[in-house]
Amino acid sequence: MNRTVDQQRNRRRTFAIISHPDAGKTTLTEKLLLFGGSIEIAGAVRGRKSQRAATSDWMELEKQRGISVSSTVLTFEFDDCLVNLLDTPGHHDFSEDTYRTLMAADAAVMVVDQAKGVEAQTEKLFRVCAMRGIPVMTFVNKVDRPGLAPLEVIDEIETKFGIEVVPQNWPVGGGQDFRGIVDLQQDMVHLYDEISSSRRVASRQVPFSDFTPENSEDLNVAAGVVTSTRDDVDLIRSAGTHFDQEQFMAGKQSPIFFGSALTNIGVERFLRGFLKLCPVPRDRTSNIGEISASREGFAGFVFKIQANLDPRHRDRVAFVRVCAGRFERDMEATVARSGKKLRLPRALRIFGQERETMDEAYPGDIIGLVNPGEFLLGDTIFQGEPFHYEALPQFSPEFFAVLNCTDTSRRKQFDRGLSQLVEEGAIQIFHDPRSTVRELILAAVGELQFDVVRFRLESEYNTQTSLSWRSFKLTRWIEGLNDEVTTLKLPYGAKRVRDQFGHDAVLLQTEWDANFVERENPKLRFTSMRMLG
Ligand code: G4P
Repeated sequence: MNRTVDQQRNRRRTFAIISHPDAGKTTLTEKLLLFGGSIEIAGAVRGRKSQRAATSDWMELEKQRGISVSSTVLTFEFDDCLVNLLDTPGHHDFSEDTYRTLMAADAAVMVVDQAKGVEAQTEKLFRVCAMRGIPVMTFVNKVDRPGLAPLEVIDEIETKFGIEVVPQNWPVGGGQDFRGIVDLQQDMVHLYDEISSSRRVASRQVPFSDFTPENSEDLNVAAGVVTSTRDDVDLIRSAGTHFDQEQFMAGKQSPIFFGSALTNIGVERFLRGFLKLCPVPRDRTSNIGEISASREGFAGFVFKIQANLDPRHRDRVAFVRVCAGRFERDMEATVARSGKKLRLPRALRIFGQERETMDEAYPGDIIGLVNPGEFLLGDTIFQGEPFHYEALPQFSPEFFAVLNCTDTSRRKQFDRGLSQLVEEGAIQIFHDPRSTVRELILAAVGELQFDVVRFRLESEYNTQTSLSWRSFKLTRWIEGLNDEVTTLKLPYGAKRVRDQFGHDAVLLQTEWDANFVERENPKLRFTSMRMLG
């Protein structure tokens, strides 16, 4: 174990926020950054949604569609912790990108709108976290608006996900009567006078024992609100659920916080509580066993690749999650897939739209390596004994279309752009290896991804395209094809193809078709997921 690495690791908290669009992820992110002292950057986060000073061409698309396509990493310091917040796109069409980003996080914060409860996208992302062993904390937002009762929200989460929810604070009132929060750990009530979105601290703090209907006038809180808050707190306490780190890490418990990101109530308490509970960067599994994060040699994996992030720097950045050891600019490391040893002279910290050179990094950090075509999604980069971390999955796409370049003189740019987008994992490409016609079938998990691809081909590669949809709905990759087994029995309407990595696959229209190929080709294995890296 290296002491410096261990110390730095213990300071790091790397997490992602998962939510349904509009639950308040951007607002919460902005407020967390405010408390971290990054006030200007906080403004930039908001800007991303409303006016987006578009330094990237294709972020124009986000602006037009009012969606967040790209994920960014935001870093700030608070209470001697170095916090890395991985921003995941909220739109359901970008689930693959979100999925890969979650793989780079050590914990997730699930933001729930108190009025709406757990919504579809949140549910989907929660299940991904559960599947991958990522512990989840919950922030119930918009308590200043009329919504479900806190106990109803808890009940919904517990029933839906089969986990135990452990309240860390409790709202005093709700909607228009929302006045503050009870910190259940410290037994203190934090009350706020007026609503404002600036950085704020509670205007008044009283011990919970003094928070009584008799004192309500003095506290400037309606007696009814005091009584119902006390009743709720008594009820929770009598239920006797206590936070248990092991249960939390095992995904069996979720600590829950209530607050209002917009009015800044409960956010600072949440940040403090959250940093206490959030795990430090963990040791990660590999093909040669657990790799200690505190070891000497650097190791990490590529979870995102992005080109043309900023048109002023037309480069390709591979985002690497540092998982072990110390990264130092200019160091040499090996790419597990290719076995190539590379010097890493350009490492960037990409903070929203800003970029600065990073001289060193530790477990939990995200570095942007300017990618000279050496890195692919899922790649492990290491020093010392060879190994690779767990692979990243590529999912079965659900939308398929043939994309044509309408201007033949732009063919080269079209090809370059497309291979770039494939490398980013934005889109998958299939072709028929036995056909003489060069037809590329684009495939994605989400429909909107096609808009992104066409928009980017147009804006970054000046290439117009036309799209014609295909009726396939799923893919099965094929394992076991060899000289003996070369023929496939396929249902009507299915198509045998090869993907961008040269793997055999079949495109199908229905689940029934998928069952058919499995049944009729017993010597082969069909999978709906392929591992990258
Ligand atoms: P998202 O990133 O999860 O999509 O949500 P975002 O933060 O953009 O919030 C969605 C809307 O909800 C925004 O209003 C935001 O101001 C509002 N909001 C967020 N947190 C709270 C809260 O605690 N209380 C209340 N009352 N509202 C909240 P908008 O009008 O859609 O956008 P904007 O004009 O404010 O940018």
